[in-house]
Amino acid sequence: MEARTREGWGTSLGFILAAIGSAVGLGNMWRFPYAASTRGGAAFVILYVLMVLAVGVPVMMSEFAIGRRTGLSPISALQKAGGRRWSLLGYLFVLTGCMILAYYAVIAGWTMRYLLEALISGFAADPGVYYDQSTTGLSAVLYHMVFMAITISIVVGGIKAGIERASLILMPVLFVLIVGLAFWALFLEGSGAGYSFYLRPQLSDFFSGTTFAAAASQAFFSLSLGMGAMLTYSSYLSRQENLPSSAVKISLSDFGVAFFAGLVVFPVMFAFGLSDQIITGEIGEGRALGALFVSLPRAFIEMGPAGRIVGLTFFTALFVGALTSAISLLEVVTSSLIDTWKIARVRAALWAGLVIMIVGIPSAYDHNILGLFDAVAGEFFLVFGAFFLVLFVGWRMEDPIGELAEGSGNRGLLTGWLGMVRFLLPFILAFVIYDRGKNVYNMVVSMLSGG
Ligand code: TRP
Repeated sequence: MEARTREGWGTSLGFILAAIGSAVGLGNMWRFPYAASTRGGAAFVILYVLMVLAVGVPVMMSEFAIGRRTGLSPISALQKAGGRRWSLLGYLFVLTGCMILAYYAVIAGWTMRYLLEALISGFAADPGVYYDQSTTGLSAVLYHMVFMAITISIVVGGIKAGIERASLILMPVLFVLIVGLAFWALFLEGSGAGYSFYLRPQLSDFFSGTTFAAAASQAFFSLSLGMGAMLTYSSYLSRQENLPSSAVKISLSDFGVAFFAGLVVFPVMFAFGLSDQIITGEIGEGRALGALFVSLPRAFIEMGPAGRIVGLTFFTALFVGALTSAISLLEVVTSSLIDTWKIARVRAALWAGLVIMIVGIPSAYDHNILGLFDAVAGEFFLVFGAFFLVLFVGWRMEDPIGELAEGSGNRGLLTGWLGMVRFLLPFILAFVIYDRGKNVYNMVVSMLSGG
């Protein structure tokens, strides 16, 4: 083994929390409840757990195998382990990271604004109107830029002093906030219907191909898979780390936070009679992105003074989650500039952040553009990237089992894992690519026809 001059994680806990920080974000508290509510509630939740375990964990292990084997960020890692042609996949990862962060930071900007709103003046009287006015335009651009600046300032600090330290502080805060909110929701009057919608499955909802594909792509987004984020984080690890067990811990924690977010959102929605809007799509389609930003403040207002505190807590948790995720997205791009183009970290983070900031501006003006970025990069590119990633690890990479066995040692289980990566995942992913590709196609067609 060559000497490692690269910086690394200080502790195993630091790595795990940073990876959970990457995974837990808007995907858990904003996308997951929304996806569950429009796809049959409990049935989606169950399919989702299956996808996390059957697809998410094995793909995360695949990213870990490449990252730790090479000790490099995606482009250089794939070049080293697979040659020039495979490094193209690394370029796709970096592009995907830029595109996701560009719109992700816009939504994170809304979160910051709502947080400050709750803190300073309370939520606006008509959340629908407020949402329409405040989430597009110049002020949305400014919040987006401020959020990017905060993200950049942490990534500039590097792995230990920047990302690890931020995660060690922020993640426990997030856990406490979200569990506290779920506990509080237990005592809401009229929340029973929310729990039963969320937790009681309807058999007919299981048999939809699109629900299946939506659950799979939600798992990719939420677990930060398919664009080398986990690959990059694992490149800073030592050989002692038990990778399969880390993958399980990270995935289950991520699911746990999404599940608890549902335990907050659904009881609140039903207790305040807002469920129809979400389920019938009144808030849904047109304002799909805003479901959470419109309906939750409405509930917070009805609660009176307590609502302001609850709302503040909720948006703080959302902001913390978004920040630690944005950090991982920017780190992928930054570390690629460092490893592949030999640019120093500070300059790399600043330049990458600046470009992404600019790319995000159109999304801060137009929700259709934001939605398109999400469908293309946040869904399609991720499954597309994951498809080639599993082909690489399954068929091209040298002895992936050997890499994962270091620090874990369970070769029997790992043989089963490799079998899945070779023979099962490519088919599952091909189906999801087909389904999500169709979705992007329909979106583009309807946008072009002036919809
Ligand atoms: N997983 C994060 C969330 O749920 C978003 C995210 C961060 C992400 N890094 C990623 C998504 C990498 C895909 C790939 O909000």
